[in-house]
Amino acid sequence: MIVIVLPVVLEAKVKNYSIAVLEGDGIGPEIIREGLKVLKAVEEVSGVTFSTTYYPYGAEHYLATGEVLPDSALRELEQNNAIFFGAAGDPRVPPGILEIELILKIRFLLDQYINLRPIHLFPNVVSPLRNDKGIDFYIIRENTEDFYNGMGHRFDVRNDNSLRQQCALEMKRKRYRAQVSIDSQLDIKEDYAITLGLMTKGGAERVFRYSFDLARRKGKAKVTSVDKANVIPHLYTLWREAFSEVSKEYPDISTEFTFVDAVTMWFVKNPENFGVVVAPNLFGDIISDLGAGISGGLGFAAGANINPGGVSMFEPIHGSAPKYKGLNIANPIATILSGGIMLEELGQERLGRLVREAVTAVLRDNVVRTKDMGGRATTSEMGDAIAAKVYEISRGIE
Ligand code: NAI
Ligand code: MG
Repeated sequence: MIVIVLPVVLEAKVKNYSIAVLEGDGIGPEIIREGLKVLKAVEEVSGVTFSTTYYPYGAEHYLATGEVLPDSALRELEQNNAIFFGAAGDPRVPPGILEIELILKIRFLLDQYINLRPIHLFPNVVSPLRNDKGIDFYIIRENTEDFYNGMGHRFDVRNDNSLRQQCALEMKRKRYRAQVSIDSQLDIKEDYAITLGLMTKGGAERVFRYSFDLARRKGKAKVTSVDKANVIPHLYTLWREAFSEVSKEYPDISTEFTFVDAVTMWFVKNPENFGVVVAPNLFGDIISDLGAGISGGLGFAAGANINPGGVSMFEPIHGSAPKYKGLNIANPIATILSGGIMLEELGQERLGRLVREAVTAVLRDNVVRTKDMGGRATTSEMGDAIAAKVYEISRGIE
């Protein structure tokens, strides 16, 4: 009998990943440089390799060319295994342009329907809460539906003779295109506006599946669903129904419903009670900033826009902090941690954990502290310290 032994372990270990790098604006290039420095250390201790391709999109490119993100670039981005993104935004560019045509375009057209934000309080990082039980949970925000679809209209009735108003709305996603006509009438002559939220059953279900799978992967016992089904039915009762149905596939994980207003109070009172929290787009956006706030602020808040079957984008939650541009004083930890999530999502869980452990170790040592932590270390010194820990920890493991 011939036994063929496939080099499974080796295959998982030695692998090359192509990473599209978008440094973006402001502190973007500085924090991405440190993120890549740590990935370089991971490369050297693991045998996994990364080939990077830089893309120039952001404010500078827009101001020079008038172009934000051409469709051809989007198709190129899609050829990579992952996207590593700094931040976009510049005072010289009117708000909205880069956010919508760059960041949201990538998220929507690459169908990155999971926005993952780990909420973790690291050692020696100060939380505004009096909390001694630790903070360690995950927020998953649905990333393509709900109210973030641009479907809405402002009716300027005062300058119009007719009270009856009509408009046609449209939204486009990878899964579908929606067209909605509104024919409306208010019985007073006054300007008004309507914004539509849209949720599909399948769109909600796939987010719940990811949430329950994440709970299993991370050893979390509970998934909490956030909504406001009591006063915004339709949208959020559909969300609730889908949650109940998907939860039946995961009898080992307990579940809980909360209203969004209540969950903000519980985040402050008992953050230790949460494992995985899953929320629709708008509420998820709001509560994840609260999550960042209770766990030490923007310098530590990592994020990822994930399409589990496609190309995902990893970026810190914070923006381009233009006032710190070029000063080498921003905290690179949120970006470095986002790189760690990238490793996990690429199937290199052990290496992702290594990055997080290296960050934890540097913070536990409490010697290298950036300006936002009340220290004087530079962006590059923090990156150096974390990269050094990657080598140190992996020497300990081997
Ligand atoms: P921001 O997150 O860039 O900065 C707010 C403040 O937080 C900064 O002034 C700074 O004090 C602090 N901060 C942020 N990141 C930090 C870091 N790594 N280390 C130390 N301190 C840090 O938000 P802001 O000022 O509202 O927006 C600036 C620009 O960034 C705008 O153009 C905005 O549109 C854009 N933006 C982009 C995002 C993205 O690329 N995903 C997300 C949020 C804002
Ligand atoms: Mg936000």
